[in-house]
Amino acid sequence: MDRRAFLKTSGAGLAGLAVTSCGGGGMGGGGVSLQPSLNTGVFTRPFFTPPEMVGTAGAAANKVFDLTMQTGTKTFTGQGVTNTMGINGNFLAPTLRVSQGDALNLNVTNQIGQETTLHWHGMRPPSDMDGGPHQPIAPNTTWNAAYTVNQRASTNWYHPHPHGTTASQVYAGLAGMMIVDDAETVGLGSLDLPKTYAVDDFPVIVQDRDMNADGTFAYSASQMEVIQGKKGLTMLVNGVIDPVLDVPAKEVRFRLLNGSNSRIYTFQFGGGITFKQIATEQGLLLAPISLTSITMSPGERAEIVVDFTALQGQAILFQDVSSGISLFKANVVASTIAATTTPATLTTTLVPLLRNQAVRTRPFVLSMGQGNVYINNKQMDINRIDETMVLNDIEILDIQNTSNMDHNFHIHGAFFQLLTRDGGAPRAYETGLKDTVYLPANSRVEAIVQYSQATVAGAPYMYHCHILEHEDAGMMGQFTVA
Ligand code: C2O
Ligand code: CU
Ligand code: CU
Repeated sequence: MDRRAFLKTSGAGLAGLAVTSCGGGGMGGGGVSLQPSLNTGVFTRPFFTPPEMVGTAGAAANKVFDLTMQTGTKTFTGQGVTNTMGINGNFLAPTLRVSQGDALNLNVTNQIGQETTLHWHGMRPPSDMDGGPHQPIAPNTTWNAAYTVNQRASTNWYHPHPHGTTASQVYAGLAGMMIVDDAETVGLGSLDLPKTYAVDDFPVIVQDRDMNADGTFAYSASQMEVIQGKKGLTMLVNGVIDPVLDVPAKEVRFRLLNGSNSRIYTFQFGGGITFKQIATEQGLLLAPISLTSITMSPGERAEIVVDFTALQGQAILFQDVSSGISLFKANVVASTIAATTTPATLTTTLVPLLRNQAVRTRPFVLSMGQGNVYINNKQMDINRIDETMVLNDIEILDIQNTSNMDHNFHIHGAFFQLLTRDGGAPRAYETGLKDTVYLPANSRVEAIVQYSQATVAGAPYMYHCHILEHEDAGMMGQFTVA
């Protein structure tokens, strides 16, 4: 559909949202009036690429990262000042860039005035370095997470995970990307993929916010917002509303992250441009998959490559089909770097797990009732272990959403591959290694997993719905691996 038609649909999309947002959303927090979507379809603000942080050399060949979680302010629209949180900045965080085999030393200082944690979503640290609810960081103290990167090249992220208060802290701006490289993706003989950060390789962190007229975020965590999940009317990309980006007329890689609390997006490019997906959350696919759109629930990542070679001089919109909002504009300009050709084979080191290797099936039932959210009819209890996994076992996770609302499922310290969705094949774009999977209302997936990381005593791993309001409301459980 053309841009004008798309903007028209966009009006309808927003009207639909208002109806489902409990009372039309007249008032935000503090009685200030809630603004309608601030996305205008006109792109005037420069696209922001979070600075890359590669760490400094420490003792014993460590890579040291000093991260300060802090409060700040940001002016998103010029209309008012918003109180925010960020890491080494006012909103969001630097992109941490690490390689397989690196010994990381992450010093996390809490200056946000309340207890927090910092979780490395998609990374596979030992469970006592995971940054989940069992590793709280008190205000004005520093937590040191030390671990060796032991996983494939992948696009991960980091965000707070304190018991019961994750949603509001992420909403305030605490989230960043964490990119892992390996021998297949960088260095001598690596794949011919776009890989120059901020030139032909861009993070795209998509988030939604509700803003009040005075510029403050409208986040009340009311019962309604908790049950439905907080969905904002204004979309941001890397913390910017309506950004415009110059892209070179060559292949360009976008590392997509749904960093929203609750909103589910279906991304596409204006004009129905075909793109290639090259990676799911936990790394490269066996071969690129051609797509015209991709649906992503909170916490999911996907790496895609768009070929802009023949589009110099054109402006291409990146859009969310579900809300009808265009998220950023890409102006295709002359390229100053060498062309790349995404190869037909992306990895030779990925060996998919097979159903007949599994030794058991483990059910997870996501349900709702009387205004509560449950997994296996239980709510999170930080003093209870819900599941005990056996180290190195391969098993099938039978994950079922029996409610009429959307959820998803994320597991720490492990990764999985989908075997089925609703009894049939998984969607084309979710066939690789994953750690988070979307479960629309009344749906079911089977995923195969192997537990390769034993848990440390007193530090279980988590599984949970990544709709953060649901997570905070108890849609989470704990497991050990031994
Ligand atoms: Cu992204 Cu347990 O979280
Ligand atoms: Cu996680
Ligand atoms: Cu949920």
